[in-house]
Amino acid sequence: MTAAVRDYGLTGSDSLLAVERGLVEAEWFRPPIDPERLRALQARTNARAARDTILWLGLLAVFGYLAFQTLGSWWAVPAFMAYGALYGGAGDSRWHECGHGTAFRTRWLNDVVYYVASFMLLRQPTLWRWSHVRHHTDTIVVGRDPEIMFPRPSSLRRVLGVYLPVAILPKAVWRTLKHAAGRVDADARDFIPEDELPKLKWESRAYITVLGGTAVWCIAIGSIVPALYIGLPTFYGAWLMVFFGAMQHAGLREDVLDHRYNSRTVYMNPILRFLYSNMNYHVEHHIFPTVPYYALPALHEEIKEHLAPPDRSTISAYRRIFATLRRQWRDPSYDDPRPDVPDVSGADRSFVNTGLTAWAGDVHDGLVDLGPAEGLAPNSARRVDHGNATYALFRLDPDDLAGSDEAVNAEAASGFVLSDGLCTHGQAHLAEGAVLDGLIECPKHNGCFDLCTGEALRYPATEPITLYDVAVRNGRVVSRFVPQEPDA
Ligand code: FES
Repeated sequence: MTAAVRDYGLTGSDSLLAVERGLVEAEWFRPPIDPERLRALQARTNARAARDTILWLGLLAVFGYLAFQTLGSWWAVPAFMAYGALYGGAGDSRWHECGHGTAFRTRWLNDVVYYVASFMLLRQPTLWRWSHVRHHTDTIVVGRDPEIMFPRPSSLRRVLGVYLPVAILPKAVWRTLKHAAGRVDADARDFIPEDELPKLKWESRAYITVLGGTAVWCIAIGSIVPALYIGLPTFYGAWLMVFFGAMQHAGLREDVLDHRYNSRTVYMNPILRFLYSNMNYHVEHHIFPTVPYYALPALHEEIKEHLAPPDRSTISAYRRIFATLRRQWRDPSYDDPRPDVPDVSGADRSFVNTGLTAWAGDVHDGLVDLGPAEGLAPNSARRVDHGNATYALFRLDPDDLAGSDEAVNAEAASGFVLSDGLCTHGQAHLAEGAVLDGLIECPKHNGCFDLCTGEALRYPATEPITLYDVAVRNGRVVSRFVPQEPDA
């Protein structure tokens, strides 16, 4: 069967088609989940992320040491293989989790690991940060998603191009050199904000400095050994990154607003799950990106009845992937059928699936009744619709307010905050997000806003949200919906 060849570039004909078909920044299916349970799953802990990071770096150090001790013997080969897999393979899921900002509770710890892992993978942090935001916005939408690994029609050459590190080396190096020279292609410009572009140049130059220094070191001592520890593991260890990463979406449906059809969850043993930071629960991650990796197995249990049964193992997943890719060599329109996805045709895609309540009640003396104060638990949120606008009402944990001298009004001390409902970055309702440490984390791309000032604290959100007056009268939360100035 012949099918029209699609344009996977981000500025071509298929990107226009995606807009026409309503696939851009659209609303995606979310299964119902108890909001209390979701809130518990969104909790972050430094202890768990630190334990896993120390174990990862510790293993890296152990295998690096073993490789050094066995240099000159064949024993060095498996030692370097393990070192490379931890560096260029397991580094990918650390990069990913910390890029979302969900691994550690302390935000700067996420940033540190994100930058270290970005270097290990030869990914410029800014480029890939925005690339991944787009990937989550328009997952596997042709002409929009820059992270589609298997464009159709599939072919042996394309598949080998994904799996062979030697094939990714020239592209990664060339892109780094290009960005260091200040040349950014049209695709990257399509998803990176203009004011972020200069960072690419400096990040690439920093990489070139470190890698160039390693090369000089190699020349000076007449040995390739330094490069086997810094730089080259990105490529000789990339097989593990590809082994895991290709499973996420390979062969699955394009242009569909339901992650159950375009993402794959695969059961894995605990060792693989450690190396992959539980990203085998990939459908769950895409639907609820505010849930940290260590809570994904529990999230899976919570919503699995609404998802397709996962692949039972990596072997069964790969059997299905390669069978699908082989069919797609001849028939690019062929999809992994996934007949086992529960039918939700007609289901509401919006936030109400999460059990959030949307209402604003009676008006007395100009004050609109937003409901009983006791109806909202600390660290939770509720959508409020009033007039033609939508808002989010939050109740903060009293501990998060202690010591804050930036609350925009005295009533914030009651723990209630009323803000714009929609994130300033995209079409996501903040009442669906995670209330953490006095911040609201957007449910779509993990952008963060300070609930005492409205300030945007974390990319991709850059514009503040507006906060409104809110008070508690006779046990009821009330507001006039008057915007509040910071420090008013
Ligand atoms: S929609 Fe992107 S951070 Fe909120």
